[in-house]
Amino acid sequence: MALRLGDTAPDFTADSSEGTISFHEWLGDKWGVLFSHPADFTPVCTTELGLTAKLKDDFAKRNVKVIALSVDPVDSHKRWIEDINDTQKTRVNFPIIADPDRRVSMLYDMIHPNANATQTVRSLFVIDPAKKIRLMITYPASTGRNFDEILRVIDSLQLTEYHSVATPGNWKQGDDVVIVPSLQDPEVLKQKFPKGYTALRPYLRMTPQPNR
Ligand code: BEZ
Repeated sequence: MALRLGDTAPDFTADSSEGTISFHEWLGDKWGVLFSHPADFTPVCTTELGLTAKLKDDFAKRNVKVIALSVDPVDSHKRWIEDINDTQKTRVNFPIIADPDRRVSMLYDMIHPNANATQTVRSLFVIDPAKKIRLMITYPASTGRNFDEILRVIDSLQLTEYHSVATPGNWKQGDDVVIVPSLQDPEVLKQKFPKGYTALRPYLRMTPQPNR
């Protein structure tokens, strides 16, 4: 059955450019991003992996570990990483899973046969420290992902997780947020939102971003 938000991210053990990885153990108590690439030595993927490497500090400060996947074997990944480092002027600083038998790709439903029978689409999963899937996005092979958006969603997920707020459409860092509707106790509201809030409607309560 296809994976859904809230499901436990399937565990697996696989080879990678940084050795054998047992996924849940590798994640430890961090958040995780697992994202797939159609194949090694493809242009869009090369730019995406370079971008991800350059965002190392942005992922680290959000307590997020990043891991990529492509259906090619480890020796190919290692040669490709040299190209990525060279052309994107960076150093790949995260593992790339080798999935030549498509075992992990199938586990995560990353192969969409009507798009391509053998290569993965651009799937991306954000996984929380309890190993629950919190975001799934799917892009076609020809469209590189927007990593600013991925960081934005992680910020939103973490605001919900740690501060009981949700983020409105087009929200960006520093904008007001909305108090989750399940929070109704006036004492809890006072304690959680010392800067106060504006109730535009009983269900639409805006408050300054709590962690700024
Ligand atoms: C790629 O880089 O993976 C790619 C580029 C153009 C079309 C399809 C895939």
